[in-house]
Amino acid sequence: MSSVSRFQPLPTVDAPQITLWVNDEPITARAGWTLAAALLANGITTTRHTAIDQQPRGPFCMMGVCFECRVTVDDIPNVQSCMTPVRDGMRVTLPRGPRVLS
Ligand code: FES
Repeated sequence: MSSVSRFQPLPTVDAPQITLWVNDEPITARAGWTLAAALLANGITTTRHTAIDQQPRGPFCMMGVCFECRVTVDDIPNVQSCMTPVRDGMRVTLPRGPRVLS
């Protein structure tokens, strides 16, 4: 299966460009995008791996239903990236494996 994202930003979008950090790497997005849209537009299709067998998961429904898009944002785990607007300087970690209870 191809991992090339079919999500592309609209060429007419004229919102300010911002930078956020994903696993300590910078990516760019436009203000007003959701985090899931920003990840997909930057070719990041896997947002987490399952706890037991490390299977990749990524945004599926883009409307807050499937919970496959969960990431860690500014040290807050299990944030639905499809429901979260991007913010300049946002720090995102793509979780891998079982969660640590705190
Ligand atoms: S993509 Fe389904 S909840 Fe975010």
